[in-house]
Amino acid sequence: MKVTIFGSGYVGLVSGACLAEVGNDVICVDIDEQKIEQLKQGRIPIYEPGLESLVLNNQRAGRLAFTTDVAEGVRHGLFQFIAVGTPPDEDGSADLQYVLAVAASIGEQMDGYKVVIDKSTVPVGTADKVRSRIAEALAARGREEMEFDVVSNPEFLKEGDAIDDFMKPDRIVIGTDNPRTSELLRELYAPFNRSHDRLVAMDIRSAELTKYAANAMLATKISFMNELANIAELVGADIEQVRIGIGSDPRIGYHFIYPGIGYGGSCFPKDVQALERSAREHGYRAQILESVEAVNYRQKEKLFQMIGSHYGGDLEGKVIALWGLAFKPNTDDMREAPSRVLLEALWRAGAKVRAYDPEAMEETARIYGERDDLLLCDSPEAALEGADALAVATEWKMFRSPNFDLIADRLAAPVIFDGRNIYDPKYLKARGFDYYAIGRRR
Ligand SMILES: NC(=O)c1ccc[n+]([C@@H]2O[C@H](COP(=O)([O-])OP(=O)(O)OC[C@H]3O[C@@H](n4cnc5c(N)ncnc54)[C@H](O)[C@@H]3O)[C@@H](O)[C@H]2O)c1
Repeated sequence: MKVTIFGSGYVGLVSGACLAEVGNDVICVDIDEQKIEQLKQGRIPIYEPGLESLVLNNQRAGRLAFTTDVAEGVRHGLFQFIAVGTPPDEDGSADLQYVLAVAASIGEQMDGYKVVIDKSTVPVGTADKVRSRIAEALAARGREEMEFDVVSNPEFLKEGDAIDDFMKPDRIVIGTDNPRTSELLRELYAPFNRSHDRLVAMDIRSAELTKYAANAMLATKISFMNELANIAELVGADIEQVRIGIGSDPRIGYHFIYPGIGYGGSCFPKDVQALERSAREHGYRAQILESVEAVNYRQKEKLFQMIGSHYGGDLEGKVIALWGLAFKPNTDDMREAPSRVLLEALWRAGAKVRAYDPEAMEETARIYGERDDLLLCDSPEAALEGADALAVATEWKMFRSPNFDLIADRLAAPVIFDGRNIYDPKYLKARGFDYYAIGRRR
């Protein structure tokens, strides 16, 4: 089947590559010329496990192509996916300018029936706006009679596991008001829907809200656990034991109840905010969402506060080794990463940072440029050299079982601030470390 995908970011590129892998003829369109040029040359602009070979193989097989030519993209696919960014607007609501720009382009260029599929995360009511924008563009060309359908098909992939999530989805949500489109999408998704039926068809508005509901629920679990970790610290309990104690209840489960230094990334922060703003626009105050956001905001400062209080509030001239920059492991994405809050707070307090991340160093350099108070190191060990203490901001596997003798040896004093609770406090205490973690007994 012929598929066009607008937006070649984390979602567009993964969706395009996976749809091509099962035999479709896919064109990915992006307005970022540099990105498209890179992709044409077989260079992948983001880090996502397994993505590079998937893109290259399908490109070579002639099933996956990249272009900045919108008209070519619109001509190509029966299916027109919109997978562009929906960043927060100034007031926190979702900025729909990119989604609507694509809708206008489709209306300006289409020459026959199209199924327009909104895969970007968008507020309820966006499909109506997309439909109007296409209809306006068609009317401007005097082609009002041309038929098209708009579908909401939110994406639930996780960065770091994106290919697997797309290939073996938990669910495929299709929001449509027209049985014809749900059949077409059922056909398109059939290769990813073989072991049992995962396709959940619903009305468009419910599909749009489902995506926000999923992210808001997951963010709530994280903020809830972080709140509990802070309480555990105050009352002398150990959050790790509490976590195991509550996770064993199947109604709660072990997933997503790890305390830490807050959620980041391109989705949870903006989606919780956008849902809260959207509720407010409808005259409703979403108090749980407000609190989820507020707790997360505070939690992102936690590591800095721990470091500050260890040094009696004076961080001037201190050097902190930082392991982990990406907002979570297996990605190079630094959007809303807790590490950024830590870095910026340390710099404001006069400290310097020697940082290492297996994938996000290029992105860090792009964001912060050259600065005297940031040294990006070649290895975790190099980051320790001459540092006063070690802080861990991302739980990459490679940090989980380090050589503690070497850490103690390289640091001015054996101090670890662990924002992801990856080490054992008792073990580290026995080895003479001053070990700080989130909600754990020291
Ligand atoms: N990243 C995730 O893990 C994830 C998961 C599920 C859903 N989402 C949602 O999917 C959407 C895309 O997210 P992302 O992380 O892939 O974003 P991204 O920023 O990585 O990529 C968006 C791409 O869209 C391109 N673009 C902007 N306007 C365009 C236009 N008019 N025509 C063609 N391309 C255009 C940009 O140049 C960019 O390359 C967002 O709404 C996001 O909330 C993201």
